Amino acid sequence: MTYSHPFGLAAGMDKRAEALRGWESIGLAFSEIGGVTMLEQAGNPKPRMFRHGGDRALINRMGFNNPGSEKIVERLKRSQQRLIPVWANLGKSKVTPLDEAKNDYSTSLLRLWPYVDVFVINVSSPNTPDLRKLQHGTYLKDILTECIKVNESCALESNSSKKPLLIKIAPDLTVNELEAIIDVAMDCEIDGIVATNTTTERPNRSHKVYDETGGCSGLPLRQQSTEMIRHIYSYTNGKVPIVGVGGIMDADDAWEKITAGATLLQAYAGFVFEGPGLTKSIVHGLNKKLKNSEFQDIADAVGSDHR
Ligand SMILES: Cc1cc2nc3c(=O)[nH]c(=O)nc-3n(C[C@H](O)[C@H](O)[C@H](O)COP(=O)(O)O)c2cc1C
Repeated sequence: MTYSHPFGLAAGMDKRAEALRGWESIGLAFSEIGGVTMLEQAGNPKPRMFRHGGDRALINRMGFNNPGSEKIVERLKRSQQRLIPVWANLGKSKVTPLDEAKNDYSTSLLRLWPYVDVFVINVSSPNTPDLRKLQHGTYLKDILTECIKVNESCALESNSSKKPLLIKIAPDLTVNELEAIIDVAMDCEIDGIVATNTTTERPNRSHKVYDETGGCSGLPLRQQSTEMIRHIYSYTNGKVPIVGVGGIMDADDAWEKITAGATLLQAYAGFVFEGPGLTKSIVHGLNKKLKNSEFQDIADAVGSDHR
């Protein structure tokens, strides 16, 4: 796929696919809706999102509040013609046991398939009990295999190409766990890895916000996420496209993730603290960096730290 620039919207901001026109109009190259689950669910009780403005950090325990993939499809059917690619973030319904997770993901994939350009299989949210266990062993292989099967049959039926399937991983994995996940993903010929989701770790300071249960994102996640990108790139010799997300607040942060190995980028917290002008400042800032570099094209800068 071709993107007008590398910067898009991270999952979780538009869980109900309500603002597709808005994401286009602020200049993003792509948006990601969801997390969408097979079943409608309310998510955790409020309050469930907290901010630390000074640290530019968020803690959230939303718990996949969303109307479910059936209702999301109705909304997507009514939406106007798209100007940018729309990705869907797929999660698992809370009541679905881990052993049946593959059906939960693949049912949403089947329903959304005609209306979405790229799918992200999210096995890394810290806010659905045990969801992160799906990153390991046969769970992951089974989910990916089932989703690939559905993707292939939808493509065949509609006489069109398969859609890219990516997996989104947690930043809290050990090196061994990370490499095992990459091995499975490469075995299944997954199209890319989104690194990363929120962290269960907390910055080294005390503040009442950091006592809240949930995943932490924003600036405290930046380095941890970049190091995951760096490791994935070097372990795969740059063969698997990486989507870099975690603590991108300005063009320097964006460039750091590109040179570590990310092809595309996303942000959530950056929009909370910097507002919609973030897109313009990142895209213009990246252009400036490119002009001052030895590279002709942004694609040449991807993974350049490794060369
Ligand atoms: C309130 C909130 C809700 C989120 N919901 C989802 C989600 O449904 N699915 C998902 O994969 N990531 C979700 N995320 C994680 C973000 O997509 C992103 O990976 C993470 O926040 C790191 O990026 P950032 O530092 O730019 O915020 C959510 C994040 C926040 C703050």
